[in-house]
Amino acid sequence: MPVLARRRPPPVDKPATTRDNQRKSLLNWYDQNGRELPWRVRGGAADPYRVWLSEIMLQQTTVAAVGPYFERFLARWPKVEALAAAPRDELLGAWAGLGYYSRARNLHAAAQVLAEAGMPPDEAGWRALPGVGPYTAAAVAAIAFDRPANVVDGNVERVMARLHAVETPLPDAKAALRQLAAEFVTAERPGDWAQALMDLGATVCTPKAPRCARCPWIKSCAAYATGAPEKYPRRAAKAERPRRYGAAFRIERDGAFWLVRRPDKGLLGGMAALPTTEWRAKKWPRAEALKHAPAPAAWKKIGAVDHVFTHFALTLDVYAADAAPDGDGWWSDANALPTVFKKAAMAGRND
Ligand code: ADE
Repeated sequence: MPVLARRRPPPVDKPATTRDNQRKSLLNWYDQNGRELPWRVRGGAADPYRVWLSEIMLQQTTVAAVGPYFERFLARWPKVEALAAAPRDELLGAWAGLGYYSRARNLHAAAQVLAEAGMPPDEAGWRALPGVGPYTAAAVAAIAFDRPANVVDGNVERVMARLHAVETPLPDAKAALRQLAAEFVTAERPGDWAQALMDLGATVCTPKAPRCARCPWIKSCAAYATGAPEKYPRRAAKAERPRRYGAAFRIERDGAFWLVRRPDKGLLGGMAALPTTEWRAKKWPRAEALKHAPAPAAWKKIGAVDHVFTHFALTLDVYAADAAPDGDGWWSDANALPTVFKKAAMAGRND
């Protein structure tokens, strides 16, 4: 017999007063419990530059990780014109460690447009910029311009899936969850509404061990009523992450490393790096790896580092030598390196 997903009555059946009450209780909760965040303004207009920058940084990245980067970027480039005028390599260096480096390349490209044309007030204007998808466009329109936009990120999907105990698994449920969220959006405090939902998802309706006792929606939450709210959203089984292998070459002189720039296209595009082999499914025997070394030398394997990317896990053998490299490259400390290469630069040390 085919297994049919059990479905609750669709929310359109809910009386509008329920939603109105839910809106009121969440906005009240936000007024009392919303987080103080560096880019957030209460009861006033938020600066679109700060909102855009924070939303780009917050894609796939936690508030805790973003905080120090956001402050450093603003101190160094207080206005979008300054960011647009910055050499791209400086911006990429300041982004090092935050991950998803296409964001930094797109940020620089979008800054050129914004510095020239100004900040668009609506979703469509933001959507046209590099690196700005439907989520970010809606978030900036709502938070910086108080436009009634449906701002749906992973937090909001989780909250909606639980509130309505949606049985369809993600990612199939995305469109339905977006529709459920849309039914709450009105012209009243749209920026606060978007941030209230996100904060509820980030601090109360958390992926694991949700703090339901603190939730303003506890009485109407269908997932809470099942006794196992953490089982929502349902998810399709994930494929296991494949592993790839590579070798990295470390040449160090007076505390500086020999670095190269990665090609613009592809993973870690445009970022500073240690010279490496290609990353592939098969391990690299020493002799084969050394054919890709930046210079002939007495290379010594000093360790291996592991790093997890979105689509694969990487094991990188690290070779070190006092070699004399030539070709395109430069000497620098490890500050502007993405995390995987920082790990390789520090491999085999105790400090
Ligand atoms: N996550 C992404 N954007 C956010 C925002 N504006 N406030 C809180 N959490 C967020």
